[in-house]
Amino acid sequence: MKIRVNTLIVGSIMAFGLLSAASQAAATATVEVYKSPTCGCCAKWVDHMRDHGFTVKTHDVGNKEIRKKSGISDSLGSCHTALVNGYAIEGHVPAPDIMRLLKEKPKAVGLAVPDMPHGTPGMEGARSDPYNVLLIKERNEERKDTTIYNRYDPYAKKAEQSQPVKPESEKNSSVMRLK
Ligand code: CU
Ligand code: CU
Repeated sequence: MKIRVNTLIVGSIMAFGLLSAASQAAATATVEVYKSPTCGCCAKWVDHMRDHGFTVKTHDVGNKEIRKKSGISDSLGSCHTALVNGYAIEGHVPAPDIMRLLKEKPKAVGLAVPDMPHGTPGMEGARSDPYNVLLIKERNEERKDTTIYNRYDPYAKKAEQSQPVKPESEKNSSVMRLK
């Protein structure tokens, strides 16, 4: 019930409908997160996922075992591994990329942000580095063989923000479909 209300609030205050439509999809998905009990950045990533409408269950048992079982190579390793709708998510992957994955449903193992780049969700601070979200197509695929699913470049974003923002009125239509 709480999630549904949150979704409606997000939907009504968003200028563009894109996120609200994605949040509805997220609200139906439960994410199982395997992490260390003492990792602060893992807890922050869990908060980030909840803020985007996901239901999150945490397992404080570390993530090495589940990573291996999920077919994620150690070359893609990070501090936590999550399972959602049959996909594995390694590390500080932004929620919007996971929403896109759940919507597009590609044939894949999942997504990874290897290591712990500064500026990823849960790793916010004074420093923000560029990083890639990687699509893992095959089990045990090495990092070098993955596909770039999305790029985050804080330097490019700064340049972009100085450009005038165009209205995206067409995307508003999805707000109206909220029941
Ligand atoms: Cu971390
Ligand atoms: Cu973590």
